[in-house]
Amino acid sequence: MLRTDPGLTFVGTIGVLENVLTTFIRFLLISSLLVPGQSTTAQEPPDDAESESAALGSNLDAVVEQKIEVLLRKMTLEEKVGQLVQYSVGQPAGPVTGPTEYRDLIVKGEVGALFNITTARDSNAYQRLAIENSRLKIPLIFGLDVIHGFRTGFPIPLGLASTWDPELVQRAARVAAREASATGIRWVFSPMVDIARDARWGRMAEGAGEDPYLGSAMARAYVRGYQGERLSDLDSVAACVKHFVGYGAAEAGRDYNSVEISEHTLREFYLPPFHAAVKAGAATIMTAFDSLNGIPTSANPFTIKDILRKEWGFRGLVDSDWTSIAELIPHGIANDPATAARKAFLAGVEMDMVSSFYHDNLANLVRSSQVPESDVDRAVRDVLRLKFSLGLFEHPYADEKKEAGAMLQPESVSLAQEAAERSFVLLNNSPASNGSPLLPLSPDLKQVALLGPLADDSANMLGSWSAQGRPQDVVTLRAALVAKLGADRVRYAKGSEITKGSDEQMAEAVKTAKESDAVILALGEDAPNMTGEAASRAHLGLPGRQEQLLEAIVATGKPVVLVLFSGRPLTLPWAFEHVSAVLAAWFPGVQAGPALVRTLFGDSNPTGKLVVSWPRAVGQEPLYYNELNTGRPPGKADLTRPPWEGTDKYISRYIDEPNSPQFPFGYGLTYSSFRFGPPQISSTSLSAGTLNRGLLDENRSSNSPLTVSADITNTGTRAGEETVQLYVRLEGTSTAQPVRALKGFQHIKLAAGETQRVSFRVGPDAFALWDDHNKYVVEPARVKIWVSPDSAHGSEATLEITK
Ligand code: BGC
Repeated sequence: MLRTDPGLTFVGTIGVLENVLTTFIRFLLISSLLVPGQSTTAQEPPDDAESESAALGSNLDAVVEQKIEVLLRKMTLEEKVGQLVQYSVGQPAGPVTGPTEYRDLIVKGEVGALFNITTARDSNAYQRLAIENSRLKIPLIFGLDVIHGFRTGFPIPLGLASTWDPELVQRAARVAAREASATGIRWVFSPMVDIARDARWGRMAEGAGEDPYLGSAMARAYVRGYQGERLSDLDSVAACVKHFVGYGAAEAGRDYNSVEISEHTLREFYLPPFHAAVKAGAATIMTAFDSLNGIPTSANPFTIKDILRKEWGFRGLVDSDWTSIAELIPHGIANDPATAARKAFLAGVEMDMVSSFYHDNLANLVRSSQVPESDVDRAVRDVLRLKFSLGLFEHPYADEKKEAGAMLQPESVSLAQEAAERSFVLLNNSPASNGSPLLPLSPDLKQVALLGPLADDSANMLGSWSAQGRPQDVVTLRAALVAKLGADRVRYAKGSEITKGSDEQMAEAVKTAKESDAVILALGEDAPNMTGEAASRAHLGLPGRQEQLLEAIVATGKPVVLVLFSGRPLTLPWAFEHVSAVLAAWFPGVQAGPALVRTLFGDSNPTGKLVVSWPRAVGQEPLYYNELNTGRPPGKADLTRPPWEGTDKYISRYIDEPNSPQFPFGYGLTYSSFRFGPPQISSTSLSAGTLNRGLLDENRSSNSPLTVSADITNTGTRAGEETVQLYVRLEGTSTAQPVRALKGFQHIKLAAGETQRVSFRVGPDAFALWDDHNKYVVEPARVKIWVSPDSAHGSEATLEITK
């Protein structure tokens, strides 16, 4: 499949080359001017980066730039626009506004990218059209929503984030890259790094939750995993970081809804994971559907040009979301396709996903001088650079013979199981009748009832956006339980469907429970229909008759373990009060069953921690731990009773529900228990001046003016792992700061009874904030510091930041 670069078969005269080089040098100079060095407004938010991954354009390759210029000079305006056009082949994931047959367009050089093709044979067939039949033989790039695995299905991203293990997430992304690239897909629309504070929003399932620090760590992990050491490696894929920006703050949790976020809040909470991904070398970024403060993000020069390009120096490709350019019309900022195309393009969106508005309008906009051709050239360079960086000109085709072998390799499947085990969050584990916690279950149980609509549902285990995941690859909870205990010790009854059910089904489940020694009850959401895109919910309880089933099973008096499958936290106050053991399993992927059985029977000790605050009631949403204190914080007021029974009225509270979540961010039980000693700090006073100088240091991850330590003891009876979390609060600053903000975390493994000291080396970013002029600085402040098992507990140490 090797071929020579078609773009270089007609290298021109020396004069042309000189011209090209002059243009190139000018381009380099201009780009370096556009990248701010250490500007005062935009110091870099927290970054634990050790190194960049396969950074696109971090060191522009002169040879590639020269190839791009040679090619660009040969292109007609229509061919240039063609590179900025992307269409979906196959299952539509949204409205279709453009053509649906692309062969002729490809041959004319009027398509740059295709997506939703999932086999090497199909991608090669389309590629052949471009390589063999188009004038300039520019390869197509194939993309796909590879969100949590390609064929080997990993836990949904919310579950992957609940591992708090970026290194594991990076390995999972590498597996996905290897499998996807084997089909010719060299571009994945992932990671989704949107901060999600509202469980009504179905897309919470696709991201890393509510925290910018953890979200940044996950963003880097995905980018590094996908892009590998070099983008040009044939098993690397370009990441597409999405959705830029603020999409997760959709009002009322309703997908595609408008967003109002102040610049301060944007910088403090929503932008950091994007910036982290860009600094890790992300090759592409996708703009979002939402309108942000009145300006749709797919036509927003402030976020794309000022922040992404100028402040952060992003040199990759900016793609639109599915028809998000066409949607500028219903948004109300364009009355016709040409205006929508012009606004999006001039704001910096370089590629049009699906809407066809660039295809139909961009050339005319250039001819009528409404869009400078130099801007089109710049965008085309970004597309061509991506294709050159991926080695597509040299290797446009996938190797069909190697495709099948790349899928579901044993080490990929075992990684999927490890990831699933680490993603489970144990929410409740209270004593059963014998006085010890219900979990882990004894393998000597004589009869176990396995009930619920998700106990034997392979398709749902794959979650939403399951790429090439196939139900037949999934080991369900039922299959794994039977493998563990033998068929004669497992009694299965469905009890109900996910959204409906009959009295007979329920009666059978109750009878099965009564005849057993313990019950495992698998309840939850329908992954493709109730989680992910276009799946906002106004009610966050169990769908259908599942709550009724739960209560009927608990009423049998048998010990019940509730395994919850969901793409978000569910409001189940009754369950948390009455069910001894509850495990949040998210949607765990192909190895759902084995991972669950190992966890339920104690071969694996749960380690997952929540990355979203778990609400008690929908009315608390949006709910997040890193809130501001308000002028009337409830303090120690008793919020469990209405204020008219006491005096605690004029404070920030509900009259009918506590403010606190059911379970806080960072929470998760294990089969061990841990005692946290008080935090010890190496200094009680730091200087803002020194810290601000530290912020100027590019390698500041090694620059730690403070060490915070705590002794952690495993007070349980078995070895276990704890995720030790570092939180900071700043008081007395120019902008109000969160009541707590995560600034570090570490995993620690302790034998029963063992104590270890955990130390955090804390850098200047932990004390930096976006000030009242939107500058990233350290200010004099009183600082509280916690080393704790979650965001709501632990004792604090204090220190002072002086001038
Ligand atoms: C989603 C994106 C996705 C794109 C392509 C859109 O509807 O918002 O996340 O990458 O479709 O499938």
